Order: sequence, then structure tokens, then C-alpha cells
Amino acid sequence: MFNAEKFIDETVAKLKEEVPGKALIAFSGGVDSAVCAALVNKAIGKQLVAVHVDTGYMRKDESRNVKKLMDKIGLNYHFIDASKDFYSALKGVEDPEKKRKIIGEKFIRIFEKVAEEENIKYLVQGTIAPDWIESGGELRDTIKSHHNVGGLPEEMKVELVEPLRDLYKDEVRKVARELKLQVSERQPFPGPGLAIRIIGEATPERTQIVREACDIVEKEIEESVEKGIMEMPWQYFAVLLPIKSVGVQGDKRAYGYVIAVRAVHSIDAMTCAYSKIPDEVIDRISTRITNSMKEKVNRVVYDVTNKPPSTVEWE
Ligand code: XMP
Repeated sequence: MFNAEKFIDETVAKLKEEVPGKALIAFSGGVDSAVCAALVNKAIGKQLVAVHVDTGYMRKDESRNVKKLMDKIGLNYHFIDASKDFYSALKGVEDPEKKRKIIGEKFIRIFEKVAEEENIKYLVQGTIAPDWIESGGELRDTIKSHHNVGGLPEEMKVELVEPLRDLYKDEVRKVARELKLQVSERQPFPGPGLAIRIIGEATPERTQIVREACDIVEKEIEESVEKGIMEMPWQYFAVLLPIKSVGVQGDKRAYGYVIAVRAVHSIDAMTCAYSKIPDEVIDRISTRITNSMKEKVNRVVYDVTNKPPSTVEWE
């Protein structure tokens, strides 16, 4: 049985030894990085420098909320808007593994630059067990390169510290609750962000569409859970497909994108079952997405596959 209190005590003690100088943390605002930041903050205080990168592939209002969270925890932080840089690096790139590697490498280069400027030797990352298990290695096949593993360049100039490496998501949440972090119940959001929810090229225009669709899915599902119509899924979002289909707007032919809605139940992300969402909720999601983006989206589908054979994300 996992004991969060014991884990915190032991990890903080270990970090005090493992990180004798200034450290940098990539702060995404998700449960993993928030727990990591809080633990390292307990161990080394202001020696920790948090960096939040706005990649341009964040959810609606995400970076603003992350700023608030960093202020609230009292972290010493840098906020870097690198969206133009990420968009141009992914221009013309369609292959999912290439996208992941480019994003991972960009993140690391940004962190390396801050580390150099601030004379930091340690990089703290919120990698959890499924990230490295699924990224392959000597004993396992690569299923997908999670950005915080597959994107690492060969010769890193900073030393990696990964305090959550042996934990599964449910255990990270237990630690978050023990640390009284409000983000403890937030659904996971992948490091490469919305870029891997746009199948094919992740252009700014497509990003805007999937951002809006994800926001609608989140709001509709959260409201439905509040009203008691359905249970909270483990993760729920929208994916933009790289195909267009024919539809009708008024009495005119339309030709627009397809949005896939995904909602899953899981315990540790290693397996998942698709959520059986009530029809009325699906109806509302579909209507709102097609109404709010009339010119761009004219079809919404629901993903009814489990993991395996699928994965949670589409890329
Ligand atoms: P998959 O798609 O591999 O996702 O079944 C399992 C869980 O991991 C999240 N995910 C990621 N998280 N970096 C992350 O930090 C990544 O590169 C990444 N890829 C997927 C996914 O959202 C799900 O919760």
C-alpha cells in the first residue's frame, strides 16, 4: 500500500542530498510538475527556479492559470512565451514521433539556456512510471516517446532529477492531496500539449480549432458531472483529424474538419476504457462545437476504443 506521507518525507530527505545546488523545474501546471515543484521547494527552497514555457499548444487560459499557481506556491519563476518558436519548428511536420522529438528537444534547449544563465546544474522533471515504460528502452518496445523521455538530446548539459519516476498517476494524486495542492484532481495533460491532439501538421489555425473544441468538451463534461448526470472520466478532450468531410450549412454545401471526442476511465494510464457518456451530453458537445466553429468544423465523432488496442491520446 502506497504511503504518501512516507514518500514525501523520504523524497525530501533524498532531494536535499541529491540536489546540493540550484535546480530548475519545468513547471507545466499539471499534477506531476506541481507535486515535483512542491517537493523540491520543501527540500531546497529558493534554490529552485521554476520555468513555465507557453508553447502555443496550451489549453484555453492555461498559461494565465499556471502563473497564478506559481505565484500562490511562492515559486521563484520565469515565464517564457515561445509559441512562435514552437509553431515554426513544427511547420510541415506530420509524423507523430518527429513532432514529439522536436517538442521535447525545444523544451530542453530552453531549459538549458536558463540553466546556463543562472548557473544551474540540475533539471527536475515530473516523469512518472508510465512515461518511461512506454518510451521503450532495452527491454521494451517504443509505443510512443513521451516528450520528457524521447525528446532528450544525447549530451545533456544538466543533470536530471526525477523524484516521481517510480510512481503511477494515482499515487502522484495521493501525494498532491497530502501536500494540499488544488491541482490534485486535475485531469492529466500531455507535455507536448495540443500539438499531439492535432493529427498531422499542428498549424496555429488548427491549434485554435482544437483548443476551442477541448474547452467545450471540458466545460460540458464538468458541468454534467456537477449536475450528477454522469461520472467524472479520468481524461476527456478533443482531437482534430486531418481530413475534411462534406456537410451542409443552411442550404449550402460545407467542407470542414472532423473533431473526435475522447473520454476515458483509467487508474494508471497503462490501460483505459472509453467512457459511456450519456447521449444528451454528447449531443450538447457536438452542437456547441459545430455552432461555435461553423466555417471550420461540420462533423463530430466519439471514440469508442479502449487501451489496448488504442492509446489514450491519438498520437
Ligand atoms: P497514452 O496516449 O500513451 O497516454 O495512452 C497515457 C497518458 O499519458 C499522457 N501522455 C503524456 N504525458 N508527456 C506527458 O507528460 C507525453 O509526451 C505524453 N503523451 C501522453 C496522456 O495524456 C495520458 O494521460
